Amino acid sequence: MKIFKPIPASIIMAKISIAVLASGRGSNFQAIIDGIKNGEVNCEIKILITDNPDAKAIERAKKSGIKYEVVERSKFKTREEMDLKIKQILDSNNVELVVLAGYMRLLKAKELFDVYRNRIINIHPSLLPKYPGVDAQKQAFEAGEKISGLTIHFVNEELDAGPIIYQEKVDISNCKSIGEVSEKILKREHEAYRKVVNSFSKGKYVIKDKKATFVIY
Ligand code: GRF
Repeated sequence: MKIFKPIPASIIMAKISIAVLASGRGSNFQAIIDGIKNGEVNCEIKILITDNPDAKAIERAKKSGIKYEVVERSKFKTREEMDLKIKQILDSNNVELVVLAGYMRLLKAKELFDVYRNRIINIHPSLLPKYPGVDAQKQAFEAGEKISGLTIHFVNEELDAGPIIYQEKVDISNCKSIGEVSEKILKREHEAYRKVVNSFSKGKYVIKDKKATFVIY
């Protein structure tokens, strides 16, 4: 049985320090920013890391006075080197939890996972293991699903396959387009991600059989 590395008691009472990784629009990033502002999320966003210099998430960071750094794939020979740069940024900002919010790359470097395994989470717009990867909403819509949903999970080296923290069903039976499906799920994503990110300030997750169970300290 793998145990989630306990967060030291001294940190529990304090805000959790997080980094957000995003490649694009950043509406989940914004949901967390808003959650912090209204007191719903007990964490501090130390930094936004993006692989896309044109990401709308950067504008959101600037507006809220959040530091950001662009780590572009083209600047590195290998994916591992890129991940090591990310690790360096996480380390130097004393990040406790890494929150992927529409980050469109797989994390691979062993050194990164050696330190941050079970401290990196992602949100995905389907009920995993159904419809991993890109266009999950399109896949569900085209398959004629009546129910789809969202999954928040720990990140490992495989695509959308880490231990599941939280899932929520969303009824998409009345949706007439992929856009409608995406919009309906996204609305739920924002609320769910705020709750799950905040949960890290209250307890820990014990991981067993690819499932993460929350335990209050
Ligand atoms: C969301 O649907 C999320 O589930 C997926 O990518 C999308 C990101 O949207 N991983 P946004 O950038 O947070 O608006």
